[in-house]
Amino acid sequence: MKHTIPRGTKDILPSEMPYWHLIESNSKKIFNLYGYQEIRTPIFENTPLFERGIGQDSDIVKKEMYTFIDKGDRSITLRPEGTAPVARSFINNGFHKKSGDSKLYYCGPMFRYERPQAGRYRQFHQIGIENIGTNHPSIDAETIAMAYHLFESIGLTKVKVLINSIGSQTCRPQIESKIKEYIHPVLSSLSEDNQDKVMKNPLRILDSKDPTIQSHLKKFPDIQSLLRPESQAYFKSVLSYLDAQNVPYQVTPTLVRGLDYYTETVFEIISDDLGAQNTICGGGRYNNLIKELGGQDTPAFGFAFGVERMILILEQQNTVSLEQDKSVFIAPIGKEHQNDGFKLANHLRRHGIPCMLDFTKNDLSPLLKKANKTNARFTLISGQNEVNNQTVILKDMKSGNQETIDRNKILETLTERLSYV
Ligand code: HAM
Repeated sequence: MKHTIPRGTKDILPSEMPYWHLIESNSKKIFNLYGYQEIRTPIFENTPLFERGIGQDSDIVKKEMYTFIDKGDRSITLRPEGTAPVARSFINNGFHKKSGDSKLYYCGPMFRYERPQAGRYRQFHQIGIENIGTNHPSIDAETIAMAYHLFESIGLTKVKVLINSIGSQTCRPQIESKIKEYIHPVLSSLSEDNQDKVMKNPLRILDSKDPTIQSHLKKFPDIQSLLRPESQAYFKSVLSYLDAQNVPYQVTPTLVRGLDYYTETVFEIISDDLGAQNTICGGGRYNNLIKELGGQDTPAFGFAFGVERMILILEQQNTVSLEQDKSVFIAPIGKEHQNDGFKLANHLRRHGIPCMLDFTKNDLSPLLKKANKTNARFTLISGQNEVNNQTVILKDMKSGNQETIDRNKILETLTERLSYV
């Protein structure tokens, strides 16, 4: 029987790894520059964490969670996102007792039972951060600027930052009743799902693609005008801190997020290179989540981006070098020189030079073919003559040039040549 991969998942093959490494290493570098430290939480959690954290009426909790009963009769869920687990860990580990904010970052697989399509998977990877402890517009702006900085450093050029404010919990009743008022005349003609949303989670209706809803919300007032003055002032301040850091943004009054924990600022980073699933990064402020999960009243702000979606863009831009061209192939001619080949390889590897060998071949021509296949940048050829003279032949696999060098100059020569590659 042939086994296939589960729908919505994919193998990440060695050929894709340069993208993953580029994204992971740049993220760590940039997060460090802003004072963030890594946290790793389990891939599964107790189900109520997500029901409570993300919201019973969100699509994720209603339709998309991988939930199962384990052998101890507990309801367990594969994490669909990283914020609720980090908030749980913050509470469990007493982070609130340490002085200053907690600045945490994470990367890893997330699971959502969604309909798979380009850029949408059932297992995907997020890299995200959570800044927990301070309610101040400078935090929102600095965090968004960090995301922008990271995207720039990875070489994503054509991205847009969309930003909005959905106000605090105290603004919510006013906004929700206004939405209901606008939708009321067409409510009974909407799908059951949308009717449910209007009743239980009206804010989510603002970004609906449903044409009836869209036409009835055409004249819906700008959400900013419905916010309380404190929230309006807070948002204005976030924007001016973004201006100060030269982060371009587009205020988007219909931007609401799919998770229920957000308050005040929400944002997304989108790319026109992505088609339907054009959101690479999403986040915002969530001032009530930690309390909601049983912790002390602690404000927070964070974001996460999808690694697979970012790679789709990088592939289209075609700017990442995928050649592994920093390695050396060791080619001993004749079985009797294989141990000499091992010695050479060990010496170079101990000094940080990647080496490859193939002792199933002993003649020059198949060895060189193999060297080409492995994408080696240089090949070191050594037969009886070279062993006798304490030399080696260094072949440049790009130009085809070859030269004889002394054994005691191999390391020095390769280190210098590979530094120009
Ligand atoms: P989210 O918008 O649900 O936010 O997900 C963030 C990103 O994860 C998306 O912009 C997208 O790039 C990626 N993503 C989501 N679902 C999929 C999927 N099925 N396939 C591929 N990629 C996907 C959150 O998860 C929040 N926890 C972000 C956050 C952190 N807010 C505050 N802190």
